[in-house]
Amino acid sequence: MTARHASELEALLVDERFDAEIYSNEPLSRHTTYRIGGPVKYLVTVNSVGALMRLLDICEKTGMPWVPLGRGSNLLVADEGFDGVAVVLGRDFRACRYDEKAGVFCVGAGVALSTVVQEAYSRSLSGLEFAVGTPGSVGGAIRMNAGTREIWLGQIVASVTTYSPRTGLVKRAGSEIAWEYRRCSLAPDEMVVECELSVSPGDPFYIRGKMEGSLANRRKTQPFSEHSCGSVFKNPEGLSVGHLVEELGLKGAAVGGARISDIHGNFIVNTGSASSYDVCELMKLIQTKVYEAYGIELQPEVKFLGFA
Ligand code: EPU
Repeated sequence: MTARHASELEALLVDERFDAEIYSNEPLSRHTTYRIGGPVKYLVTVNSVGALMRLLDICEKTGMPWVPLGRGSNLLVADEGFDGVAVVLGRDFRACRYDEKAGVFCVGAGVALSTVVQEAYSRSLSGLEFAVGTPGSVGGAIRMNAGTREIWLGQIVASVTTYSPRTGLVKRAGSEIAWEYRRCSLAPDEMVVECELSVSPGDPFYIRGKMEGSLANRRKTQPFSEHSCGSVFKNPEGLSVGHLVEELGLKGAAVGGARISDIHGNFIVNTGSASSYDVCELMKLIQTKVYEAYGIELQPEVKFLGFA
């Protein structure tokens, strides 16, 4: 298997016509909001749909594991790293265009969600205010169905285009996808390539007011400026993990360089030198204590990469 990787994938990666930037053994701590993570075998930024298709097809054919990296904002990467390919969507996936007739933003999956929020505001278009301050790429936000408890990105998705070596390019209406709290029905091997988001004309003062209110609330209730992956666990129905952690007196607990935030109990922050091991130990502590006290099994929201 290794020999096949070496021949086909490596031949692609050194091919001058391959429209991509390639880094070998790149520390993923440089590419995650956690600033945690060992090296990835190849970090590949593909700049066109053609390059993405070639890369994923060869990975599929040779059995080389691959993962979309997005902006690394909801990811905990093992200290040992990831022996596969981390895919970043570059140039052609970073365009954001407003189709006035259809009332949709056509957005490449590599665009930062924050950019789309600003683009909508600058055109006095309403619908994306809830996403202000949400880190991550549009592709990652679609896959996670990012948002608050009540408002999700899925609610304004008009269409999503994905690519997988199994199905090729597929465009689906938003209504063909099942959207649930922090998940959607896209298959794990489907890479989001672009989407259309429905927006509607609005009063710029109203839009701005909603955005500022939402952002101020986040700044007050979340450790906004510290390195984290956002919420570590999904909220169980009707409950807030942050509240449960606070009730149990776990805020401020630390393992190595990781610490349960004093501001929000569902955030584990990297105070500077945290390893993925430190974060995992704190996650286990929270899961154990919450289970002992309330009989609830917490489910991680953060995605894991490189763990056995
Ligand atoms: N609370 C506490 N102690 C804490 C944290 C919260 O008592 O340490 C209480 C709050 O006072 C509030 C309740 O718990 O009464 C809910 O807290 P909050 O409004 O902060 O919302 P959340 O349920 O903890 C969810 C999302 C966030 C999203 C916010 C705001 C999840 C897991 N988290 O948090 O999403 O930003 O609502 O809409 O659904 C993320 O997914 O990464 C994320 C940050």
